[in-house]
Amino acid sequence: MTTQTDFIVDKTNLRNCQWLQTQRATQLHSGQVLLAIDSFAFTANNITYAVAGDSMSYWRFFPTQEGWGRIPVWGYADVVESANSKINVGERVYGYFPMSSHLLVNAAGDGKRSWYDQSEHRSSLSRVYNQYLRTEGDPSYSAENEAAQMLFRPLFMTSFLIDDFLSDNNFFGASQIVITSASSKTSIGLAHTIHRNRAGQCKAIGLTSHSNLEFVKSLGIYDEVVTYDNIESIHKAPTISVDMAGNGSVLMDLHRHLADQLQYSCLVGVTHWEARQGAQQLPGPKPELFFAPSRIEKRNQDWGSGVLDSRLAEAWQHFIGEANEWIKPSTTTGKVGVEDIYQLTLAGKARADTGYILSVVEQ
Ligand SMILES: NC(=O)c1ccc[n+]([C@@H]2O[C@H](COP(=O)([O-])OP(=O)(O)OC[C@H]3O[C@@H](n4cnc5c(N)ncnc54)[C@H](OP(=O)(O)O)[C@@H]3O)[C@@H](O)[C@H]2O)c1
Repeated sequence: MTTQTDFIVDKTNLRNCQWLQTQRATQLHSGQVLLAIDSFAFTANNITYAVAGDSMSYWRFFPTQEGWGRIPVWGYADVVESANSKINVGERVYGYFPMSSHLLVNAAGDGKRSWYDQSEHRSSLSRVYNQYLRTEGDPSYSAENEAAQMLFRPLFMTSFLIDDFLSDNNFFGASQIVITSASSKTSIGLAHTIHRNRAGQCKAIGLTSHSNLEFVKSLGIYDEVVTYDNIESIHKAPTISVDMAGNGSVLMDLHRHLADQLQYSCLVGVTHWEARQGAQQLPGPKPELFFAPSRIEKRNQDWGSGVLDSRLAEAWQHFIGEANEWIKPSTTTGKVGVEDIYQLTLAGKARADTGYILSVVEQ
């Protein structure tokens, strides 16, 4: 028997959470693999998965008891049992997991680099999330880099893809880009990419809260840093807005201030999840949702196999050294610690200069 521990949250009130302990018979069916989840990163992005759990199907990856959800996270796990001849006990994989001690998957595929979970309940969901990358098949893998991979890999992928999308559209003729939640890792990745590739072509303006102002300024990747209560100080020029915050009143202020100078309005996230507002009539262009997995599929089709990966790897090399200087990992293990970091992040009180790495199992 294996004892599985799950952190579950009330779908109707995310502050309400609990731990679930279940016993599982270890007899696996043919093809199944049991993974022991070692550690995972936890950021505002994971809160977004919960906030959009129903509307964007994030609750469907790791179902649990009625009315409750298991929040998806990115991390590492080890194969502890296998009824799949292509996958050995002891293998380590990177991928998408619940906040749990274990995950049972129906593994398929025999790629040197990856395999995927073909469980019925995941089959209609984006393939990007169902893939498990074998550390043995990744020449760039090293144990020391695991924290950076968990913290930045999915977020920097989004930053890279937003820059690619904007560049593909000639930056919609804009000369500046306003990025909200400027202290978030996704925004930092985007500002870094713009600073490196488009200096002189497009200015990056970071919008942040007073508490994160000094941190964001210290990064040196934004041409200007402005607080949410000072939007009217932004120069009126052709602009793109990239919104990570999803704060209804901030977006309204931005649209009102820039009005017809706003060339494109891109919605990426909802870090300020409690300040969301329903559909409202905004001056200027209608905001459009950016969904990274759709862009990945498009670029894999446009460019052919492996090209996106190698372009991303090149950009990553430029980013990760500096990112590791700016944001330091902090590891917390065990139920009490995991719950504390969850509540801290949910309340918007997590430190911007800290990358939280969690493990459900006390170590
Ligand atoms: N569409 C996609 O495909 C996609 C992919 C990846 C990420 N995203 C989105 O990008 C956003 C950033 O994610 P991340 O993981 O990079 O974030 P993160 O590094 O954890 O960012 C934390 C920052 O977000 C702001 N924040 C977080 N919670 C808050 C709260 N409750 N109230 C007010 N401010 C809060 C604060 O920044 P400020 O003080 O600077 O506002 C904080 O420093 C998320 O919304 C995520 O879902 C979207």
